[in-house]
Amino acid sequence: AGADPVPGGLEGRTVVVSAGGTREPLDPVRFLGNRSSGKQGYALAAVAARRGAEVVLVSANTELAPPPGVSVVPVSTALELKAAVEEAAEGADVVVMAAAVADFRPAHYADAKIKKSHDPADPDAAPVVELVRNPDVLAGLVERRGDEASPVIVGFAAETGDDEGSVLDHARAKLARKGCDLLVVNEVGTDKTFGRDDNTIHILRQGSSHVIDAGPAPKDEVAAAVWDAVQQIL
Ligand code: CTP
Ligand code: CA
Repeated sequence: AGADPVPGGLEGRTVVVSAGGTREPLDPVRFLGNRSSGKQGYALAAVAARRGAEVVLVSANTELAPPPGVSVVPVSTALELKAAVEEAAEGADVVVMAAAVADFRPAHYADAKIKKSHDPADPDAAPVVELVRNPDVLAGLVERRGDEASPVIVGFAAETGDDEGSVLDHARAKLARKGCDLLVVNEVGTDKTFGRDDNTIHILRQGSSHVIDAGPAPKDEVAAAVWDAVQQIL
């Protein structure tokens, strides 16, 4: 437990945090997944609880202990996560989408384990996995909210710089596209963020060019910076 310089401030508020990474099953023993550990989402939930909020943590495939005072709703797939987040978001003051949600899932689920040799005509043939798009949970929350100011919606983005632009260029475009209130951006590389205890983030606010930088710092210090930014909006 790291120090939170601003304890309190979320009393009487209900917040929803999604954490971890979804798994999209291919057959009874295999899935498409990602490297999200859930640590940042758990830290966000823990800090919100310490600040007095009622916290629902929609948790996808983590191995973390539930933070004290937080209700955990376990989910696995993107569709399960969407249903759980939407239900918890009803009447909530804030929704933070820290989970890594799979953009695609296998189009077909095989009820029995897929065998190495699936084509008798060509025993060495590699199967092709067809994918379909998952719904965008964050964009759906923004859409459902319509013109209402509540809940405050926070997105996360793991970005890398490339030929098209810097990390912040991509993040600004994503914030505009998603329409959420805040976008928390972290720079990802092979060992930069996933599963680590330290994080470096930039917080972008809709309609503002001001960027808040936090870290490198332990994930609960970063979480405190995110709640500070949320509390400015509440
Ligand atoms: N997200 C979501 N539902 C999805 C995919 C993403 O709610 N199906 C949310 C994530 O939880 C995160 C935010 O959207 O808060 C940004 O996710 P990201 O993967 O960075 O954005 P995408 O729009 O999927 O863009 P891309 O993967 O192409 O960068
Ligand atoms: Ca994505």
